[in-house]
Amino acid sequence: MEDTSAQIVWRSLPAREVTFGAGPTTVTVAPGPPTWASFRLRGVRPSGPGPGGPGAVVLEGLEPGRTYRWWWQPAGGERVEGGSLQTLRPPPGALLARFATVSDLHIGERRFGLLGGIRDVQPASAEPYPLRAAAAALDEARSWGAEAVVWKGDLTGRARVREFEAVAELARSSGVPALLQLGNHDRRRHQSNHTALGGLAYAHDGEPLVEDLAGVRLVLADSPSPEDRWGHLDAAQVERIVAAVASAPHPSVVSLHHPPERWPLPTSYPPGVTRSDSRRLIDALERAGAALVIAGHSHRNRTYRIGRLLVAEVGSTKDHPGGWAGYAVHEGGIRQVVRRTARRDVIGWTDATASALGGLWGWWSPGRLSDRCWSAGWPPR
Ligand SMILES: [Fe+2]
Ligand SMILES: [Fe+2]
Repeated sequence: MEDTSAQIVWRSLPAREVTFGAGPTTVTVAPGPPTWASFRLRGVRPSGPGPGGPGAVVLEGLEPGRTYRWWWQPAGGERVEGGSLQTLRPPPGALLARFATVSDLHIGERRFGLLGGIRDVQPASAEPYPLRAAAAALDEARSWGAEAVVWKGDLTGRARVREFEAVAELARSSGVPALLQLGNHDRRRHQSNHTALGGLAYAHDGEPLVEDLAGVRLVLADSPSPEDRWGHLDAAQVERIVAAVASAPHPSVVSLHHPPERWPLPTSYPPGVTRSDSRRLIDALERAGAALVIAGHSHRNRTYRIGRLLVAEVGSTKDHPGGWAGYAVHEGGIRQVVRRTARRDVIGWTDATASALGGLWGWWSPGRLSDRCWSAGWPPR
């Protein structure tokens, strides 16, 4: 959901042509054939329960802050009520910039789910699923209007040189400036294979990456450690992050791979930034007046507050629900939208991955609509 548009997603469509509508907008789509995936116990199966495979459409031209009834109609059939949808109100003031994020690309990964039970079934000529999911997400984010994309870590599956080289090639060919940070999958033992990212802009060696767009400063932290899977932000790095936030001419968004941990023991898997480092960071960011922390690593969508600080985790490009986040920066605040990547050979795969953990993954990873799409004013600085 955005201020003037809404994405509608389906697992299958019952007709060769279906029209979707809300308010003044209608869009007609022709569902393609289903895509296929291989499941450990069930064999090779089409994604989605019906003859037409999974897909998505965006209804545009809606008015902000309004409730609409949306509907769909198969060719030659009756109109079916879809329910109500409520567009967001934009933050106050003029729109200044748009940026996007992609998280947990895991380029090089070959299978998904418990014990790797779900595998991609594609023609031999097709790109592996992590690569085509990342490329399609970047394409869609660029078409949405992103002026820069933050790549929030776990760029690779196993921190191999050839995986970093594929990441670098993708970043260079994506057509939109890339700001990168590393995740725990990018730091295996004491290798520094990430140097294969070459001249790309990325946060590393405890040194945050800082980039200013109109109306916002982006501060990318370096949280992975060669020692373990937790996120670590020592006092020196927190000092650098806080200095960047405090000296910013605009409100700041701090990007982490690992989300901060709120409680003494981790309440979900995988573990985020260690409790003591989280407390140090959060206290310092609150004092410095940071507006928003964005994170990846959990492969799910969730937005919450720690004290006054807003924290938004966004899911992976390559497993369910599979997408990217867009941020519209206004004079008076920021708006987030999470979109599922709609390209057919991507949404077919991300639909198949919903069945991981006995289907729990499909229920858990998307979060609620309010976790994915929201509009927030900047806090006082
Ligand atoms: Fe990840
Ligand atoms: Fe991670």
